[in-house]
Amino acid sequence: MSTVEPVVKVEKYNGVSTIIMNRPKKRNAMSPELHELMDKTLEELEQDPDTKIVVIRGAGGNFSAGQDLKEFFRGMEENPTKAKHMAETANRWRWERLYNYDKPTIAVIEGYCVGGAFMQLLATDFAIASENATFSLSEVNWGILPGALVSKVVVDSVLYRHALYYACLGEAFDAKEAARVGFINYAVPHESLEAEVDKLADKLMKKSPAVLKATKQAIRQVRTMDFGQAYDYLLAKNTAIRVDDPEKSYQTGLAQFVDNKSYKPVYGPFELGTLLSYDDPKKSKK
Ligand code: COA
Repeated sequence: MSTVEPVVKVEKYNGVSTIIMNRPKKRNAMSPELHELMDKTLEELEQDPDTKIVVIRGAGGNFSAGQDLKEFFRGMEENPTKAKHMAETANRWRWERLYNYDKPTIAVIEGYCVGGAFMQLLATDFAIASENATFSLSEVNWGILPGALVSKVVVDSVLYRHALYYACLGEAFDAKEAARVGFINYAVPHESLEAEVDKLADKLMKKSPAVLKATKQAIRQVRTMDFGQAYDYLLAKNTAIRVDDPEKSYQTGLAQFVDNKSYKPVYGPFELGTLLSYDDPKKSKK
């Protein structure tokens, strides 16, 4: 029986599936094998009915030291066909798949988050870091620029002076600085990290999945639209929610606030699955 650990592991608990980049001895540097497995795992979990939220993190106290310089760069220099295939796979999961993911995604950062790992960091919907985390766009320090889409997603995420500063200097920075400039949502004391991740996941799971999915897609898509396109898209998207939301959130939310006065949307969502227990005022008047 093989005792070799898989380079990607999944742990499932209460609707949250945690994908773990698992090369702790290499600080979870991303090898071709890791990319293949991450891509496959994300695809599977998107279709898994028991997975409501996906968390991405690394084993052994680090997020990821970026691309594996030995296996991903030097190892494929003589094999352009494989290099192209691997670049496509690496980019697919770290950007296209995560950026368009149907379910909410959370990056959890501890220890090192370097270079190519900024792609999945910035493609996830939310990112929480331990105050022990160290971030670095180190590429300039070893002779390349932040490639694949790293430069692009960095400058799209933070103010452009911060992007230039960290890409050109390659200086390491901590989690509070990462939160200040907008690479992550917040930094928390290391001992609170697990509780904070659970808290965010619980909040997300109380929302209607259909409305949440449409909302995160909308925020992402309108970034590159002009105002006319955005009006049109958002109108159509809002109409579409009403068709495919099993919670019937629009009707439920309105009725429970306007008619029943049973909750206040400013302070949280209505309880999922409560449409059936709601007395339709139009029906009761008949
Ligand atoms: N690619 C390949 N191997 C890597 C790696 C990477 N990106 N990052 C770490 N490793 C390997 C080291 O070579 C070492 O392997 P070894 O045990 O066979 O010698 C092992 O992981 C542990 O790394 P080490 O440098 O000893 O750990 P550390 O905790 O002292 O330092 C880092 C960690 C992340 C600061 C340091 O390894 C580093 O600077 N890595 C390069 C990160 C980088 O620039 N990535 C950009 C890629 S786009």
